[in-house]
Amino acid sequence: MKSNLFISEQELNEQRRIAADLYREIAPRNLTFFVETFGCQMNVRDSETIRGWLTEIGYSEAAEKESADLILFNTCCVRDHAEKRLMGNIGALKELKDNNPGLIIGVCGCMMQQEGIAKKLLKRFPHVSLIFGTNVLHRIPEMLRAVMNGERIAVTDRANDAIAETLPRLRDNQRSAFVNIMYGCDNYCSYCIVPYVRGHERSRRPENVRNEIESLVSNGITEITLLGQNVNSYGNDGSAGMHFADLLRYVSDVPGLKRLRFMSSHPKDLNEDVMQAIAELPNVCHHVHLPVQSGNNEILRRMNRKYTREHYLSIIERMRTLVPDIEFTTDIIVGFPGETEEAFEDTLSLVETVGFAAAFTFAYSPRQGTVAARMEDQIPESVKKRRLQSLNALQAQKTIENNEKYIGHVGEVLVEGFDERGPETMLYGKYQNFKMVYFPGDPMLLNRYITVQVNKTNKNSLLGEMIHA
Ligand code: SAH
Ligand code: SF4
Ligand code: F3S
Repeated sequence: MKSNLFISEQELNEQRRIAADLYREIAPRNLTFFVETFGCQMNVRDSETIRGWLTEIGYSEAAEKESADLILFNTCCVRDHAEKRLMGNIGALKELKDNNPGLIIGVCGCMMQQEGIAKKLLKRFPHVSLIFGTNVLHRIPEMLRAVMNGERIAVTDRANDAIAETLPRLRDNQRSAFVNIMYGCDNYCSYCIVPYVRGHERSRRPENVRNEIESLVSNGITEITLLGQNVNSYGNDGSAGMHFADLLRYVSDVPGLKRLRFMSSHPKDLNEDVMQAIAELPNVCHHVHLPVQSGNNEILRRMNRKYTREHYLSIIERMRTLVPDIEFTTDIIVGFPGETEEAFEDTLSLVETVGFAAAFTFAYSPRQGTVAARMEDQIPESVKKRRLQSLNALQAQKTIENNEKYIGHVGEVLVEGFDERGPETMLYGKYQNFKMVYFPGDPMLLNRYITVQVNKTNKNSLLGEMIHA
């Protein structure tokens, strides 16, 4: 069996003991940390674990990078340019290090899992002393102890993909939290580097997922997003003892859990059972992030996506029959190798047909080691750029059309934040189906559920007013 491999309690206790030792040394010195996170929700969630450990080790969070005693970049490598940008970011810290020789500079995350990069960074930047990958977050105390003893280390154990449960975590807000249900990815979409850096797919045990949710909800969290590169394939290797639809059923009745979200969904595995679960469970939100990537079957085949345009559209139709107010968001890549003008137009027509609430659009970026990077017929950058612009223009139009449906709509919004720049304070938050709405109100209402009616739309956003708190 592939998964079921867990980091032992004994090993975790050893790390906790090191953290407690370090705490005695560090806490009295009032040291601070700053973690800068790039990339997707996986990294956001990992950064919470990292910040949790650093807090346990005796650091507190710095307000800004410049005043921190430990700076860590949590990196992403899903598209290019990231490496250059990282080099620039690290280079820029040299001056801070010169002024504060005790400063620890570290780099972690997906990019560090790429072959050779850790060594390259250590060589090129003498002021970097700590590098680690995504599979060794449970070893942060031990790694930090080594760095404090003057070592420069790179721990990027790609083979170790055992799951570590019950690591510490420091969260940003009191209303929503991400909960991993699985790690890694086995899909090998031909453009994508994630399976190479995040390792193969492993599902957590359902009871561990539920325990984490229960503990979050008992601490005041009311909205949970289940995370995975492809949540619909949860448990496919048999190790979790259930599939995604049953996991939704199993965790959705945690008392006090108002909203249950999940992402990302892969169209090839979004089956009838999952659709039924979304329809039948009262707190599962009516939103599916369903990356389509392309609207052309030949490109989908070359992308190794394992579904067709027709299948994708049939999911949308079926879901809308089951759940009429459901909203879809998506990811789209333009300029994949071999994408002809006609193929690109298929993507436009799919966007036209579906009417996504929002689309995250990307120009194809070749990633070393992936199948697509070796394909012929790479598309010139200028063509990618033009296609991206016309796709974005179409989606902007569709977003406006989608927003217009909401005039007069009344529903509950979970308040996420406020904007005090205008003449009156505007609160914002989402309906359960992911639509964001702005409305005037008191910042005291942060994290609360407020009933809001939409009365206007304004380019990208809905504007409304509070009906009652
Ligand atoms: N697991 C998620 C996606 C993770 S990456 C899923 O399958 O839905 C997020 C998005 O980045 C992808 O959906 C894709 O649209 C985009 N992406 C991934 N690799 C890319 C590449 N090489 N070039 C451009 N965009 C890419
Ligand atoms: Fe990448 Fe495809 Fe896996 Fe998503 S499903 S992470 S796009 S390989
Ligand atoms: Fe980037 Fe890693 Fe996510 S490569 S997109 S942060 S899984």
